[in-house]
Amino acid sequence: MHAMKMRLAILGSGSGTNCQSIFQAIDDGRLNAEVVAVFSDNPEAYILERAKKRGVPTGLLNCQGFRNKFPEDAQKDLAKQLQALQVDFICLAGFMRLVKAPLLEAFPRRILNIHPALLPAFPGVEAWKQALEAGVKQTGCTVHYVDAGMDTGEIIMQAFVPVLAGDTSESLHARIQVQEHILYPAAILSAMARL
Ligand code: GAR
Repeated sequence: MHAMKMRLAILGSGSGTNCQSIFQAIDDGRLNAEVVAVFSDNPEAYILERAKKRGVPTGLLNCQGFRNKFPEDAQKDLAKQLQALQVDFICLAGFMRLVKAPLLEAFPRRILNIHPALLPAFPGVEAWKQALEAGVKQTGCTVHYVDAGMDTGEIIMQAFVPVLAGDTSESLHARIQVQEHILYPAAILSAMARL
């Protein structure tokens, strides 16, 4: 266990089950950390509710109406807020926009992402669907450091998940998520130990 309590910020666009698994790992004593803020680009995202229920401050990212882009101004503004909060690690948990220079430069090797495939295979969106369509026998999930590419940063940890006969996109994603919820807290711990 890392001696110092790490300050985490979580960014997500959707349901936030990975965020919940980080809360759970903290409560179980598996992760010596505190989530100091949760941000989303989507005002409807359930991840914001999860944070509010726990009393974690939340923020909405102003993506200026862009569907996929994370505008530079919004990234600069977020970097400032996260620096003011003295955040040690930023955890992307189902965050569907690409992080670029303003954040990467402010938090070098401090931004982590979870991806629902065994990178470098199947980067990008709906990776479980890509795996199913490719007909692979196993897939999984990956936690990696974020760099300027799409799902290209150095890998921290991976977990394997079998693809079963009769799997649908939903059943496969659900099986991957079970592993994600174990993997992400373990990989955060591993990144802390590498500091
Ligand atoms: C997770 O499966 C995560 O790996 C994936 O989105 C889901 C979010 O679920 N992320 C990506 O596809 C990023 N490229 P959650 O909101 O329940 O944590």
